[in-house]
Amino acid sequence: MAKAAPSRAPRTTLRSGLRSALRTGLAPLALLSGAKSFRDNPVIGSRRLNRLGLHVGRIRLADALTAQRRWRLGRRIPAADRRHYAEQGYLIRENLLPPEQFEALRQEIYGSDWPRLEMRQGNAITRRVALDRARLRGSHPQLERLLASREIANLIRYVAGTGAEPIFSLQAILAGLPSERPDPQATLHADTFHSLAKAWFFLHDVAEDEGPFAYVPGSQRMTPQRLAWERRQSLEAAAHPITYHARGSFRVGPEDLAAMKLPPPRRFAVKANTLVIADTRGFHGRTASDHPTCRVELYAALRRNPFLPWNGLDPLALPWVRDHIGSLQLGVLERLQPLGLAKMPWKPAGQGPIDAGLVETELGAAGSLGAGRRAAGR
Ligand SMILES: [Fe+2]
Repeated sequence: MAKAAPSRAPRTTLRSGLRSALRTGLAPLALLSGAKSFRDNPVIGSRRLNRLGLHVGRIRLADALTAQRRWRLGRRIPAADRRHYAEQGYLIRENLLPPEQFEALRQEIYGSDWPRLEMRQGNAITRRVALDRARLRGSHPQLERLLASREIANLIRYVAGTGAEPIFSLQAILAGLPSERPDPQATLHADTFHSLAKAWFFLHDVAEDEGPFAYVPGSQRMTPQRLAWERRQSLEAAAHPITYHARGSFRVGPEDLAAMKLPPPRRFAVKANTLVIADTRGFHGRTASDHPTCRVELYAALRRNPFLPWNGLDPLALPWVRDHIGSLQLGVLERLQPLGLAKMPWKPAGQGPIDAGLVETELGAAGSLGAGRRAAGR
């Protein structure tokens, strides 16, 4: 008699049981973390608790702790930057590197093949390369130097309001690709309820019609109007039809901005060699592009549990860990994903140039991407 094929059902049931037990058990604990999903966490998403002020209370507590951390970090950056951040929610540095150093950096980046990951969102693809300082040392000295820059790290830390280690990647944004679905990141939104920093160092000019980054100046501040808006969102977010909104990245419309007394977004059409660092709990987005564009940049992100009172004690700052931070981060994501504790939206996309390959795969031979290969000061 033929043996029955072993059933996978018990293992699957066990895994999903473990996942839901973890989720339920950790739900209240997650209140003191950066967890933000109203849909996935029944405590964070509770209408009753949010009516009692849970969401706004988390914002207030995170802000109080962030303010004292940021105050201590402020000694490491110029007073003009502190003022600019307080008013606008972002920092900008034009001509960050001397011209010859910038050109050498471009040559290192465009002259190399990279292990690429990709994520498609609507009509845009984000292509990313995790960067490890240890691997760049010797082969990519300009890039390694930039990643090791204390000046840049301190600016990013100030905006994020935490003294932890920023994580750097090489990134290409392919926007305006043929697709029925729009780019969800082109809708103005806040990434989460607490301060965090994202930084972009542009390797070439970004024109007005090339889907530049947009940011609503001053929208990082939790004014009474913003807190009232946050409270209203928190009551409905768990059942919101837009998944990103339901998961705590609230989308915002022009009427909401006006009601919060906020200006329209500033579009960052910038020259090559410009660094922008934004607190993306302020409202921001990619600008929609009606034609295919490719934006290449060095990207950094920094977010940490906003309820920690201290700036240091970051395991990622240990020397070996810091030197391998890119690949370690990917490895952790890959391990946590099966347990339902992290999302790993990235798909391997082979080894190759940061700004090539998609020209053929996404747009056909007639595609005209490859913006990064243009002269820096077009
Ligand atoms: Fe965002």
